[in-house]
Amino acid sequence: MNILLIGSGGREHALAWSLSASPLCDTLFIAPGNPGTAECGTNVALSVTDHDAVVQFCREHAIGLVVIGPEAPLVAGLVDDLKAVGIKAFGPTRAAAALEGSKGFTKDLCAAAGIPTAAYQRFREAGPALAYLRGVGAPIVVKADGLAAGKGVVVAMTLEDAQAAVEGMFSGSHGEAGAEVVIEEYLEGEEASFFALCDGRTALPIGTAQDHKRAFDGDQGPNTGGMGAYSPAPILTADLQERVMREIIRPTLAAMAERGTPYTGILYAGLMITAEGPKLIEYNVRFGDPETQVLMPRLKTDLAAAMLAACDGVLDHFDLRWWDDVALTVVLAAKGYPGKVETGSEIRELDKAEEVVGVTIFHAGTAMSGERLVANGGRVLSVTATADSVAEAQRQAYRAVDLIDWPEGFCRRDIGWRAVARERG
Ligand code: AMP
Ligand code: GLY
Repeated sequence: MNILLIGSGGREHALAWSLSASPLCDTLFIAPGNPGTAECGTNVALSVTDHDAVVQFCREHAIGLVVIGPEAPLVAGLVDDLKAVGIKAFGPTRAAAALEGSKGFTKDLCAAAGIPTAAYQRFREAGPALAYLRGVGAPIVVKADGLAAGKGVVVAMTLEDAQAAVEGMFSGSHGEAGAEVVIEEYLEGEEASFFALCDGRTALPIGTAQDHKRAFDGDQGPNTGGMGAYSPAPILTADLQERVMREIIRPTLAAMAERGTPYTGILYAGLMITAEGPKLIEYNVRFGDPETQVLMPRLKTDLAAAMLAACDGVLDHFDLRWWDDVALTVVLAAKGYPGKVETGSEIRELDKAEEVVGVTIFHAGTAMSGERLVANGGRVLSVTATADSVAEAQRQAYRAVDLIDWPEGFCRRDIGWRAVARERG
């Protein structure tokens, strides 16, 4: 079977790495891919927003499965358009992708199904939103309803910050995404991510992770897409995972099926582990980045087989297996990230870094300039190590990081600190 993978980041390199190892996979195409995915298959310059072009490519290359990495093509209905012409696609339909595409939709679904989440209100105008804020006070969380590339959330510790966020969103700071605003209760606890493989009716846990959203050591600095991650998340014990399945994931699947919009694909639950138990912060309708770079090295089961089983609705007869090792990834970003960055600086000595025991390097924002590998984005590499402890995986990942010759990059030096501290007891 030929597989087409859509996307170009570190997540997609990790997915390409797994898919290309599948005995089910003949040729793997990646659109548009990056220099890392080119080592796992064939990169193709396809305009992913042109759904007709994607369909035509699938027909010409006998694609048996399309795997979609990022949320935008899902929210834009690429799965619907592929399925409509009989092409198997892994991921939710446009309607089901509303779990990420609209925070208000998800909050209403949680309220109706009794899924634990922060108390909230939805607003379409600034006046009532500001009045509500004055009533509830700070700390409080203000969110743009729609997709805002991870920048639509303001955790306001003061009423003034919350008011400024509301005014900004309603005056267009987040474009269409901010036409509606959700204001919700501030949750206290430790965050963790839970991933479920879903086929519309059945969900199987596919892994847990914790990421590091702030740019600098000690969780300081601006929010980013994620500077590193590890899996599993030790806070999500077997008991808590069962609770997440029972109280959050299964009721969501049931509610989506009941609405006539069954959920197929990866359901990524961002959780706050509060004193009262796990509460849903948000859903994403895809794998995480950089979480995928730590989920894939731990997954023993053939990813292509698992995705096909999800597409075919037979997960009730499927079984996922993992390696015992833990995985940890350190993101190397271009200096300036998450702000403006320079592209084009050369990256050297990756081969040497990859010789470190247990290390795999996933490309995110890289490009080839002739024979040279150069930086081509904010998050550039994801240096992943597996080992039998988080402390050892951390050591190996940084050993590899230190062998990479790229003065224009930076990384956090404390990825995994929480888990390492836990390990030490
Ligand atoms: P989101 O884009 O919804 O994942 O939000 C980004 C980040 O904001 C989350 O990872 C949390 O750290 C924080 N956050 C979001 N909602 C809440 C909440 N209700 N209480 C506390 N922190 C939150
Ligand atoms: N690392 C967070 C995300 O993928 O949304």
